[in-house]
Amino acid sequence: MKVLIVGRGGREHALVWALAQSPRVDALYCAPGNGGIAALAECVPIEEMDFAGIAAFAKKQEIGLVVIGPEDPLAAGIVDYLEAEGLKVFGPSRKAAAIEGSKAFMKELLRKYGIPTAAYKTFSDYDKALAYLRTRPLPVVLKADGLAAGKGVIVAHTAEEAERTLAELLVDKTFGASSETVVIEEFLEGQEMSLLAFVDGSTVRLMVPSQDHKPVFDGDKGPNTGGMGTYSPLPHVDSSIVEEAGRTIVQPVADAMVAEGRPFRGVLYAGLMLTAEGPKTIEFNARFGDPETQVLLPRLETDLFEILLAVAEGRLAEMDIRWSSSAAVCVVLASPGYPGPYPKGLPITGVEEAEWDALVFHAGTALSPDGESVVTAGGRVLGVVGRGADIAEARDRAYAAAERIRFEGAHYRTDIASKALAAENGSR
Ligand code: AMP
Ligand code: GLY
Repeated sequence: MKVLIVGRGGREHALVWALAQSPRVDALYCAPGNGGIAALAECVPIEEMDFAGIAAFAKKQEIGLVVIGPEDPLAAGIVDYLEAEGLKVFGPSRKAAAIEGSKAFMKELLRKYGIPTAAYKTFSDYDKALAYLRTRPLPVVLKADGLAAGKGVIVAHTAEEAERTLAELLVDKTFGASSETVVIEEFLEGQEMSLLAFVDGSTVRLMVPSQDHKPVFDGDKGPNTGGMGTYSPLPHVDSSIVEEAGRTIVQPVADAMVAEGRPFRGVLYAGLMLTAEGPKTIEFNARFGDPETQVLLPRLETDLFEILLAVAEGRLAEMDIRWSSSAAVCVVLASPGYPGPYPKGLPITGVEEAEWDALVFHAGTALSPDGESVVTAGGRVLGVVGRGADIAEARDRAYAAAERIRFEGAHYRTDIASKALAAENGSR
């Protein structure tokens, strides 16, 4: 079968890498792809939001399955559009993708069905929001309602910071239409866990857990990013807690979406805080995580294509999905200035040398105009994934490889997976 992946980041590179290993996949295409994906799939210059262009290409090439990576086309209804054109698609409908596209919708759904999450209120009126904010204990969490590339969440530690952030969101509208409504939320304390699942209506198959590192600098300092690194498994989290999160959060949300007439088909991603009172929801995403996918797929033993096709055809219940017990650690190399403004087009060297002991997934890269070399083209540039028997081994390989890659002003966190490392050392 021919498969088309929509997207251009590290997540899509990891998807292409896993799908390329399937004996059932004859040809891979990616729209628009990036400098690394081009080595495994034919990249076609069609933008993610050009639904008509994607449909026309997929029909002409007789694509058997279209896999959607990012949230923007999902929230805008790409799956409904392509299905109406007679194509088979992996991903949720527009109505189901609202679980990510609107935090206000997601919070209301959780409240209605009694699913654990942080206490919150939503506002679009600045004066009312400010009055409420002044009654809240610190730290307090402020969130843009709509999509903001992972940057629309601010944990404010002082009243001054909280009030300034509120004005930026509601008055200055830093995130445009995405911050016309703001969620003011209780700060949850604990370990974070990303728990992704393949979901087909009320059938849920949990993936193995992973942990992301959102702040840009070591020690969780600095502003939030799309994610600076991930690892899986989580040696410090008992499997009974993962099971509890599936039972009390992921399965009830899948069931609630069915009850609401918005059955979810695709990857449902729960961002959780493991609090003293049990797992609580921070966010839901309607897609594979980035960079979670880069550590999950190297641990997947079952053919990814078979799983995606089963979900697209409503047959997930038939699937037996296996994961390896090995570990994976992903370190993201970012452009100078990210998550703020950054330059593009900086030459990258050392990728081949890094690939001696790691997987290198391209996130924001492009081929230079002569097609000879790879240059930076995004904020998060590369995800370097080390694999090993445990986190310590995987992490050593990831950092050894990351050190060989060079571009001007490159920066990465040096403490990815250190919490897990401490737990692993403790259990020896
Ligand atoms: P989100 O984009 O909603 O996942 O939020 C980004 C990051 O902000 C999360 O990964 C957490 O580290 C932090 N965060 C969001 N909401 C909360 C909360 N209610 N309590 C504590 N931290 C939070
Ligand atoms: N890694 C966070 C996300 O994909 O939203």
